[in-house]
Amino acid sequence: MRTIKLSVVALFCLLSLLAISNNFIPALIVTGQTVDAALTAPTDVIASDNSYSNKVGITWDAVRGATTYSVLRNTVNDTASAISLGTTVAGSFFDTTAVTGQTYFYWVRAENGNTVSNLSAPDQGTRANGTIAGPVQPLNPPVAPAGNPVTATKAFLGKTLFWDEQLSSTRTVACGTCHFSTKGGSDIRAIINNARSTNPGADGLFGTADDVYASPGVVSNNSDGTFNLSPVYGFREQVTGRKSRSYIDAAYSDSLFWDGRATQVFPACELR
Ligand code: HEC
Repeated sequence: MRTIKLSVVALFCLLSLLAISNNFIPALIVTGQTVDAALTAPTDVIASDNSYSNKVGITWDAVRGATTYSVLRNTVNDTASAISLGTTVAGSFFDTTAVTGQTYFYWVRAENGNTVSNLSAPDQGTRANGTIAGPVQPLNPPVAPAGNPVTATKAFLGKTLFWDEQLSSTRTVACGTCHFSTKGGSDIRAIINNARSTNPGADGLFGTADDVYASPGVVSNNSDGTFNLSPVYGFREQVTGRKSRSYIDAAYSDSLFWDGRATQVFPACELR
């Protein structure tokens, strides 16, 4: 019993030490700020590895309730001595002060006024030594349309809507059904020689040379939820005539921006 009591006491001491270290590290928390676990720590923090020769790019998933994000860096995996690089309302940050060839640990924290989340898990990133080969330099995030600047809350709303199946008539399809995040935004369901992803093409006949393998959609249906027997697809999902394209294609088909250079107009096909 005594051993149990002692271990409980020891556990509490450890927990409070952890809590103190998290709340009172000068580099991480400034006066007035409080850590609230209800504001989730950012996930999927990724720092670029030699993608740029003039910076390290850090990205993460949008967090519900965040209005800004703080980015921290250290040469060792130690949050206590990490330095703050600044804050942003976007879902990405460029560390232009990274020294070439030095590997850094990066952390991101969600913030809303004086409420801050815990730090994310770290990810290591490096600025490349020398120049980046290739005719096309690595892309920066797409530039926001004039009059519609990015905010952290809008970014989270966009993420939410992207995955919301309730927006479709059958309540089974979201943007993410066709645009696969893990495949750069394209549709892995568009499988060659698969009946489920075959569009009969211009002649309306399956099994002919102009068949297209593309993104499956929904079963033909009415607003009251009843289904229609389609002369082409029966009760199967209809298939669009195209395969969904990648995010990169969507964001950069009209204009390319990188490193502050002037806008260059490219035909969309060049980027595929
Ligand atoms: C049923 C599958 C499907 C769903 C659901 C879907 N898309 Fe698409 N998306 C496509 C296809 C197919 C194309 C390519 C169209 C073309 O090239 O003619 C496309 C193209 C796009 C493009 C343009 C890409 C470019 O190169 O210009 C954007 C942007 C896009 N989709 C965003 C979205 C968003 C946002 C949603 C949710 C509101 C969504 N898509 C839902 C299949 C889908």
